[in-house]
Amino acid sequence: MTTTRTLVVVSHHRPDSRTAHVAELVAERLRAAEHEIDVLDLRSEGFDPRMTLEDEPDWTDRDKAYSVQVQQHMERILAADLLVVVFPIYWQSTPALLKGWIDRVWNYGFAYGRSDPRLAGKRVLWVGLAGATAEDPIVAPMADLLEAQLSEGIAYYCGFAKSAVAVLPDAEDQPQSVDELGNLVVGEAPAGEELASQHRAFDRRVLAAVDEFAA
Ligand SMILES: Cc1cc2nc3c(=O)[nH]c(=O)nc-3n(C[C@H](O)[C@H](O)[C@H](O)COP(=O)(O)O)c2cc1C
Repeated sequence: MTTTRTLVVVSHHRPDSRTAHVAELVAERLRAAEHEIDVLDLRSEGFDPRMTLEDEPDWTDRDKAYSVQVQQHMERILAADLLVVVFPIYWQSTPALLKGWIDRVWNYGFAYGRSDPRLAGKRVLWVGLAGATAEDPIVAPMADLLEAQLSEGIAYYCGFAKSAVAVLPDAEDQPQSVDELGNLVVGEAPAGEELASQHRAFDRRVLAAVDEFAA
């Protein structure tokens, strides 16, 4: 059996975030399934999401040498068979940190723009944590939007063989919803065993999504 090499990308500014916890859970699960894991924590590794002149594509040169930092990130993507990208959903999209990583690293001539795409055959699972509750009717259209952006607009455009988005609602302890007047309603967080049980249920959903995709 060949070992699957997996790059777990985590996009969050806080190491104690739920997002960081989910990334750890994913890495542990896949390590236990014999994957070789590389964890790329964009914030703690100091990735700057702002586009630079050096990393701006030159449409006349798909072999342009991008910055050293970007080339190092490209190498880590190339080394992986599977990517799992973990992020909090911001405005029904990715946080700027992750968007900037895609903009700078998934660059012309590397990720797209060739008839023989370098990322061809790889798989990517996008794991988005949502503050919305599971009952919120916004969740389904939000998942569709993310699927269109991340799977259709990016992964398949770059030649990936398989891409899926797992939206995880209830990422906040205090349930959030929007009332008929448009106000954000923030409920009470449960306490004690009820909260612990909610966290366990959340973690089970994370693992189910990873198991289903990676199988
Ligand atoms: C700028 C911003 C935008 C957000 N937009 C959304 C959104 O569109 N939909 C949603 O369900 N939650 C949204 N949230 C809530 C986050 O998804 C939620 O706080 C996060 O997933 C919790 O995980 P964390 O503790 O790792 O940050 C937003 C939060 C922030 C700060």
